[in-house]
Amino acid sequence: MTIIDDVKQKTDIVEVISQYVTLKKSGRNLSAPCPFHSERNPSFFVYPERQSWHCFGACNMGGDVLSFVMKKENMDFGEALRLLAARAGIEIPARVQLDTRKDEKDRIYQINSAAALYFHNLILNSPGAEKARKYLEKRGLNEKTVSDFQLGYALDSWEGLKEHLKKEYTEKEILEAGLLVESDDGKTHDRFRNRLIFTICDNRGRITGFGARVLDDSLPKYVNSPQTLVFDKSGTLYGINLAAQAIRHKNQAVMVEGYMDVITAHQNGITNVVASMGTAVTERQLNDLKKLTKNIVLAMDADTAGEEAMLRCVEYENSLDIELKVVVLPEGEDPDNVIKEGTEKWDQLLNKALPVIDFTSKMIQGMLDMTTSTGKSALVNKMIPYIIIEKDITQQAHYLSKLAVDSGIESKKIEAAINELVKVKKTLQQPRKTLPKPRTNRFDRVLSTAYARPIEEQFLALLLKHPEFKEKSAGVPAEYFENSENREIFVAWQQSADEDALREKLDEILRDYLDTLSSKNILATKVNERYNEYVLRLKEDHLRSLARKGETIKTAGEFPGEKDVELTDSLREIFNIRAKREGGKGDRK
Ligand code: UTP
Ligand code: MN
Repeated sequence: MTIIDDVKQKTDIVEVISQYVTLKKSGRNLSAPCPFHSERNPSFFVYPERQSWHCFGACNMGGDVLSFVMKKENMDFGEALRLLAARAGIEIPARVQLDTRKDEKDRIYQINSAAALYFHNLILNSPGAEKARKYLEKRGLNEKTVSDFQLGYALDSWEGLKEHLKKEYTEKEILEAGLLVESDDGKTHDRFRNRLIFTICDNRGRITGFGARVLDDSLPKYVNSPQTLVFDKSGTLYGINLAAQAIRHKNQAVMVEGYMDVITAHQNGITNVVASMGTAVTERQLNDLKKLTKNIVLAMDADTAGEEAMLRCVEYENSLDIELKVVVLPEGEDPDNVIKEGTEKWDQLLNKALPVIDFTSKMIQGMLDMTTSTGKSALVNKMIPYIIIEKDITQQAHYLSKLAVDSGIESKKIEAAINELVKVKKTLQQPRKTLPKPRTNRFDRVLSTAYARPIEEQFLALLLKHPEFKEKSAGVPAEYFENSENREIFVAWQQSADEDALREKLDEILRDYLDTLSSKNILATKVNERYNEYVLRLKEDHLRSLARKGETIKTAGEFPGEKDVELTDSLREIFNIRAKREGGKGDRK
């Protein structure tokens, strides 16, 4: 659930609007003189069941509680949401706080870009970089790869980069970008020296930091950027800027450990690959990948696949609702050299990837003597924690019976052990912090369904993947979207050149939601037909809901007759379109 849903769930439109006008009962709904224009006869209606409002008078518009507040308080979407959130006792990170550092961050991105260019030019042109070019050759990297990945070289010098950047930036700024190291006496020098440079980008292609490898066997093998305002190793996916498209397309992401693994994979046409940068896989990394696909394969060294690491991965699989598979590379190999031996071998390995729980069980069995009863019960004891956290009951049952087979211990006995453990855990557990009391009025039941408008979301998902509809969609009125957040995204999308511009335009509260929408899996076929169908359905829904609202007014004897006719005509037009499409056998329900 997004924070927007949360705010809506805890907000009753009737309560909110009542703060501005006195609502009177009108059938199942409520009415008032419109708060937006002056009138004597009430043409402003509130629909508690749909949690929406509409003015049939001069405004002739409507929407949800957010659009009401936006209009009434003359606020933008973010302001209205924050107001309602505060009212409902929901905390939203303050925008000011995040924004004050935006300039500093932008400055670091700029410095990083300048540094990347400097390193890149050196590896291409500098006589001093001859050994780096030899090294690239030795590792089999071609020119295109060097350019795609913006590989570079840091000279064997203490102040080469510093001198170069100081023409444009202050020493303090360069230090804050992590490119300099400060020694005890307060003097600074280049962090990266005599190393091959890997430029690290975020999903939007902004340069967040660098990795730097020695050209021989000396240690440390890699030096990376330190934590900065824009770089956090545990939240970084190396290669994501180049892999995102393929990940979406293949609906699968492969996570490897190293820079070189990603680069070799891409050079060999395997482009849905990113690296965790050697650290244990973090929740943040998986969560970022999840925006592109739910199918994630971890390709790792045998020694990285520790038991503890796996338990965390099973937890993430459940908490993030992703499908995590694991493939372990043959002893002493990494994706880099497997792929160099031929992509077939890599494909074979990936095809053998095991669901993370199966993998864990196999790994644990490998460490036990499964011919003894001690080994068998040890397996059960070690696997129970993984099975307990499985959210999906069917899966849980599946793993339970699998464990019974693997261990030769009856599932009933395992189940009993699990129940015992769960009971003990429960009594040990601290009482949960009580959640804020949910609203208990009679609208609760209908709220969640009234808000769910999958059609709006599907349509947006389609538009986000197909910018070519931008012009055509100019004819779609924003009111077709009942949910303010969808309306907001639709309007902003129409005004933005690309998804980056769109993100910038949107209030940050909407960005997570935008990611959810743009990562929705949608069919790639019959795009035009689906576009037309969605628009038609949105229009039909809109008109129907207006008609329904009109109905309620009509029974109250106040519906303006003219609009009644207009609505019916429009709906008839839709029926006709449908009828034609279905070969004249229109179903006029
Ligand atoms: P590896 O030691 O497996 O290196 O570390 P690699 O990527 O295979 O490099 P080559 O093939 O020897 O050239 C895997 C990853 O762990 C991180 C890096 O991201 C590296 O790519 N790492 C490793 C560090 O950050 N620091 C280190 O000292 C070592
Ligand atoms: Mn390697």
